[in-house]
Order: sequence, then structure tokens, then C-alpha cells
Amino acid sequence: MTSPTERFVVAIDQGTTSTRCIVFDRRGQLVSLAQQEHKQYFPRPGWVEHDAAEIWRNVERLAPLALRRAGITLDQVAAVGIANQRETTVVWDRRTGVPVSRALVWQDTRTDALVTALRDAPGAAAVQERSALPLATYFSGPRLRWMLDHTPGLQERAERGEILFGTMETWLIWNLTGGKHYTDVTNASRTNLLDVHTLDWSPESLAFFGIPRAMLPEVKPSVGSFGTAVAAFAGVRIGGALGDQQAALFGQTCFTPGEAKCTYGTGSFLLLNTGTDLVRSDNGLLSTVAYQVEGSPAHYALEGSIAITGSLVQWFRDQLELIASAPEIETLARTVKDNGGCYIVPAFSGLYAPHWRSEARGVIVGLTSYITKGHLARAVLEATAWQTREVVDAMNVNSGLTLKTLKVDGGMTADNLLMQYVADVLDVPVVRPLASETVSLGAAYAAGLAVGYWPDLEDLRHNWHRAGQWLPAMDPALRTTEYANWRRAVERTFDWIQ
Ligand code: G3P
Repeated sequence: MTSPTERFVVAIDQGTTSTRCIVFDRRGQLVSLAQQEHKQYFPRPGWVEHDAAEIWRNVERLAPLALRRAGITLDQVAAVGIANQRETTVVWDRRTGVPVSRALVWQDTRTDALVTALRDAPGAAAVQERSALPLATYFSGPRLRWMLDHTPGLQERAERGEILFGTMETWLIWNLTGGKHYTDVTNASRTNLLDVHTLDWSPESLAFFGIPRAMLPEVKPSVGSFGTAVAAFAGVRIGGALGDQQAALFGQTCFTPGEAKCTYGTGSFLLLNTGTDLVRSDNGLLSTVAYQVEGSPAHYALEGSIAITGSLVQWFRDQLELIASAPEIETLARTVKDNGGCYIVPAFSGLYAPHWRSEARGVIVGLTSYITKGHLARAVLEATAWQTREVVDAMNVNSGLTLKTLKVDGGMTADNLLMQYVADVLDVPVVRPLASETVSLGAAYAAGLAVGYWPDLEDLRHNWHRAGQWLPAMDPALRTTEYANWRRAVERTFDWIQ
């Protein structure tokens, strides 16, 4: 039972497959959770869409549910924080609040040809320099350009200020506050449009993409003020907003340069805090804003983004129907002792870090009549571990630091076989905190800091407690052979150019 005078912080975690509202207490412990999946639209190969209106309706429904489950009322909520799937692009009518089309999701590769053309356009190098990102289908800027090109009259309406753009946190803040048009620096740093040094939209990059300034939100620090809610959490201040991967870094309390985490969700994202210095990558990692506390300089991170990990398990479940629920993959994989020589490289959205090959397509190699669904299940899990290894190798070279331990979180960390395999292929211990909802926790921390619910970053560190640890146990010779096989399998994904 909670006391009626006790106060809490609520996080909205708007992810790729579902939305959650989570209530946290002062010790960073989860008090209640309400979750709702939303529909995934795949209208053509490589296209992935969400209905932003459906997502907002889910937030409206989940907010009171989470409070009810916690046994608390709105006046006990000190602040609300938002963490969101990044790069997903929403465009709506300023007057009616109705999205002009479905949101284009971060996994969507329809901008492939556009991005290829943009890379050769004058000014492309400067855009990449200013945003510290490559030009790739992953980011929102090209997606917004595509929408302006493919929706009749949209460019003119956007120039007249009638149309607004945002990533999911912007869309939610706009709906929560009844019309405040804000983003935070971490989400803005995933658009190709931000100047990562001034932390504002770059007029030159906007000109390069032909995007009207009038449709863009104001860029704010991640810990600060995003207005007061008039819906769902009416009267409560929105104190924090971060992209979900940055939120997980924050929730794992990786505040010191050199600290890293990997979140295993739909995709997997390894972020290394590089402090107030932006470290550029020349080997396939991204430089991104990690967080900014209002009144302080921004912290940056190096990121290794892997597009498909948990969603490979979903594909195995929903498209191949070889398991009925995601956790069953571990049971199935344990029916065999190894992969039987079979490897799956899930280049469903091309390959992200460290390859950035949008033309890559997925492969299954090593099939013989010996292979069972158990071997396939193993290959599915191993694909996540090897993709992590590729990113960690790039991170070690790029940062000049050698990763000593990997902090992990996200749904897939419940899979012990996978976590052991990650420790085996990385040859470092893998540790998981007690608080597994680190994305939501990071959003809650940001919001709570903004309103003084927690005094400072140091205070938050005391909430981190280790719950699980996996130590490497693989024979080094086997690791070397398996890694070589994985790399040969990856090479095959580049052969299949459509
Ligand atoms: O960059 C995409 C990432 O933010 C998506 O995360 O957890 O919603 O799959 P998730």
C-alpha cells in the first residue's frame, strides 16, 4: 500500500512494438506497469508504418490504468518523462492534430534510392559532418523529405506553417500539452538536421533537404521542461524526454565517460558515454547526443545500432510459426548442442552498424538435411550475439578503450542461453541490473531530476543493483572459428542486391 502523501514519477515508454506507462518510486523501483501493443503495418517489402493516432489513444488509456494499478492519484505524480522509439517520423496538421499519413518507422527502408541520390548531392559531406551521422535510411530527415515529395500539396502547406513534424516524443508532448511543439536534443540528434555543436537545427542542412523550418519543433535539453500536461496526466509537468536508447543509458546510470550499455529489444543498441566531447567514428558507429541536463553541456555517446535482434525472434514466431511465444526460443534452442553449421544474418532492413549496407538482404547459410528447427532457433539467438561482437569490436577500436564489462537490459536479457552466448563471444562478463525496465527508468530519472524529486545524478547511482551475471566460458579456438563463419555469412548478404 502506498501512502496518500507519497509521490511518484511516471514514465511513458513509447517503443516500436508497444507503449507502456510505468510508475516508479523514489528508489527507482517499479510500482506498476500498463502496456499496450500497437499495429505494425508492412504495406510493401521494406516499408514499416505505425498509426500515430492509435499510439496517442493507447497513452490516454494506459495513463489512468497505470495509476490505478499503483493505487495512486494524479496529484501524487511529481513529473512525467518520455522515452521513445527514435527516428520514426510523424507529420500532422497543426490545426486539426490529425496525422497526414501513417508514421514512417525507423526500420522503414523506402528512402533507399533517395538517400543514394542525396549522398552525391552538393553539400552532402557537410550535412554528415554537422549531424555527425551518415546519410542513411535509418534517420528521420530523409523520411521527412520522402513524405514531402509523396504527399500532394504537403510542401506548400508546410511552408505556410500548417503542418508539423516530430518524432514520437514530439507527437506525444504535443498531444499531452494541447499543442506545445518540442523535441529533445537526443531525438533531434537522429534526424540528420541537427548541428550537434550548436544543438539547434542547422539552416544549411534544412536547405539541403528542402525542409521548411516552420514545421520543426523547438529543441530542448532532455532534462528540463516540456510543459504541463492538459490530457492523460493533466496538471503534471513533463520534465524529461529522451530517445529510448539514450534513456536506457541514463537508466543504467552510465553517467561517466567510458561506461556503456546494450539494450536488447526489437533491435539492439550499444551506447558508450564519451562525456562532453563528441567522438566521431570512422568505423561504422554513430556519434549521438546522450543527454543534456538544462543549464549544463550536453553529453555525447558513441552508438552501435543493430536493426534486427528481438524482431528476428518475432519473425521466427509470427512468420515462420516455429514457436508460439518469444521465450520458447530458448527452450527450442536448448534441444540441440550447437547450430549444426547454420547461420542466420537478419539483414531485413539492410545491415546497420558497423556495415551500413542498406542493400543487404537476410540470409540463412549452411542448410543441410541435418538442420532442425532447434538449430535454426540457435542460429537466431547467435545472430544477436555476433552482431553485438561486431559492434563491440568497432567500439573498442574507435574509443581506444577496451570494454571490460557489458551492462545489458531489455526483453531479450531474460534469455539465459543468449546472455551466456553474448558473454562467450565477447569474452567479457555481461551484467544485468535488478531494474530491468531501464528505458522507462531513464525517462523517469530525467523527469524526476527536472522537478527535484531526485537531487542529482550521483543519488541515482545508488539505485543500481546487479541482478544477473554471465561469465565467458567459450573455448577461444571455437570462438575464432565461429566468428569467421559468421563473417562469411555476413558477406553473403551483400551479394543479394535487388
Ligand atoms: O533507433 C530505434 C530505437 O530507438 C528503437 O528502439 O526499443 O523501440 O525497438 P525499440
